Amino acid sequence: MAILKIMHAGNPVLRKVAEPVKKIDKRITRLLTNMAETMYAADGVGLAAPQIGESKRMVVIDVGDGVLLEMINPVITKREGSVVDMEGCLSVPDYNGTVERSATVECEFTNRQGELVKLTATELLARAIQHEIDHLDGILFIDKAQTIEPREMKDE
Ligand code: CO
Repeated sequence: MAILKIMHAGNPVLRKVAEPVKKIDKRITRLLTNMAETMYAADGVGLAAPQIGESKRMVVIDVGDGVLLEMINPVITKREGSVVDMEGCLSVPDYNGTVERSATVECEFTNRQGELVKLTATELLARAIQHEIDHLDGILFIDKAQTIEPREMKDE
């Protein structure tokens, strides 16, 4: 188990199109575990492998319902509707922005057991899936944001 260093905007790894995972070996499952631990430690709802410097198509998401999604080679197969809402990113820690996303997405991915999983998502989960898959294509939310504002410092 390890908490990994999160790359920030400006790091070229965030702009690369990530490579598909061809074989799920111990290195890949260990990476998924460490990505989840890193996401939880940073209080994020999602993390994509390029954010920790690995240009591979892997994502972890937990929107706060205690369900950890580990997605290998995720693809969106259907989109419906649209909704504009605020989002942020662990790689862009100083800003939030409003981004238009599809309201509902259907996606497919491989889990760590190598099984194909199909998932229909709405609300925050749909937003997180779209945000994280964008990372795999070298896209950051600041590229799409309609408005960007400095993130307010919260008093402890
Ligand atoms: Co992000």
